[in-house]
Amino acid sequence: MTRVGERYRALVAAGELRPDADQERAVAALDRLATALAEVPKKGSILWRLAGRKVQPPGGIYMWGGVGRGKSMLMDLAFDTIDYAPKRRVHFNEFMLEMHDRLRAARAREEGDPIPPVARAVAAEAKLLCFDEMIINNSADAMILSRLFIQLLDAGVTVITTSNRPPRDLYKGGLNRELFLPFIALIEQKLEVLPLNGPTDYRLERLGGMPTWYVPNGPAASAALSEAFFRLTDYPVEDRAKVPTEELAIPGGRTLHVPKSLKGVAVFSFKRLCGEARGASDYLAIARHFHTVILVGIPKLGPENRNEAARFVTLIDALYEHKVKLLAAADAEPQALYPTGDGAFEFERTASRLMEMQSEDYLAKGHGVE
Ligand SMILES: Nc1ncnc2c1ncn2[C@@H]1O[C@H](COP(=O)(O)OP(=O)(O)OP(=O)(O)O)[C@@H](O)[C@H]1O
Ligand SMILES: [Mg+2]
Repeated sequence: MTRVGERYRALVAAGELRPDADQERAVAALDRLATALAEVPKKGSILWRLAGRKVQPPGGIYMWGGVGRGKSMLMDLAFDTIDYAPKRRVHFNEFMLEMHDRLRAARAREEGDPIPPVARAVAAEAKLLCFDEMIINNSADAMILSRLFIQLLDAGVTVITTSNRPPRDLYKGGLNRELFLPFIALIEQKLEVLPLNGPTDYRLERLGGMPTWYVPNGPAASAALSEAFFRLTDYPVEDRAKVPTEELAIPGGRTLHVPKSLKGVAVFSFKRLCGEARGASDYLAIARHFHTVILVGIPKLGPENRNEAARFVTLIDALYEHKVKLLAAADAEPQALYPTGDGAFEFERTASRLMEMQSEDYLAKGHGVE
């Protein structure tokens, strides 16, 4: 059995990762989890028939800390390494959207409380569930998640999750938070809670002070942005010709083609995002799903581009609101991008946001709405 620790140490030895004490502690915990999971009798086996039904798998691990500390990297390493089926890795927001859909369908069947059947179905699909970026910012999610989680853990599902906050700060200051407290207690009791909060934001370090706004569009900007993309995604040089694409689901049933999508980083052209009839729901889906967006080919806009400019404003608002990191190639600096035309005055706020989005402070923020 390959261990998470072996793979981690190999990456450190190869110079791809720097030694990090918090990460080593997390790796040790992930290996303990892997060992415990390896001891869970396989359903239907003799051991399972003898005692397995009574063996409760471990609850799992909750890794939290500031941005760029390596939480997602370690979760991915564990997810790939741990031999336990069926398993599933999903972005937390996507999982919640899916739960709302499934609960709606269950309610429509009018068979009483919709949560138990949905929990049973989810538990049957994945015995190991990995969530990236757990964040709770509305009471509907808080209530559903609280009940769903209790039932998933009861059903023997093991959870690995990452978050920018410790469990006690989840849904902080939220409405009816007292109803959510049992969920926090449950996480603290059933999951091993691990801080990954060392001094280094490795993502920022990987950008190494690279500019995030390139003028003008052209080969130099393209080369710099593609370098940034590969640094941010640790993509092996030999695979660079075949970066995956993605069809991003937009609420309401449409999809959006993402020409390059890897590890939470997406590349789009201005033409595709703002030159076609798209709106807030597309931009919100992007902002929720990706922590970093690379946008190429932003032209200088004039009065004849009022639709493009209006869409661009909506896009930037969504990205800014969700603290998505933006890297871009444009034919002008933000202040000179849309000097005249309908809404040029309002565009000043967008330009100011674009300036702020280039700052170290902004780049060091966690993805998601507070
Ligand atoms: N020890 C390390 N040495 C060098 N690079 C690292 C190390 N740990 C992580 N990285 C790299 O830093 C980048 C950020 O890591 P990762 O995406 O896992 O951060 P995160 O903690 O999930 O951040 P966020 O909260 O923003 O999601 C990745 O490219 C990752 O490979
Ligand atoms: Mg992450």
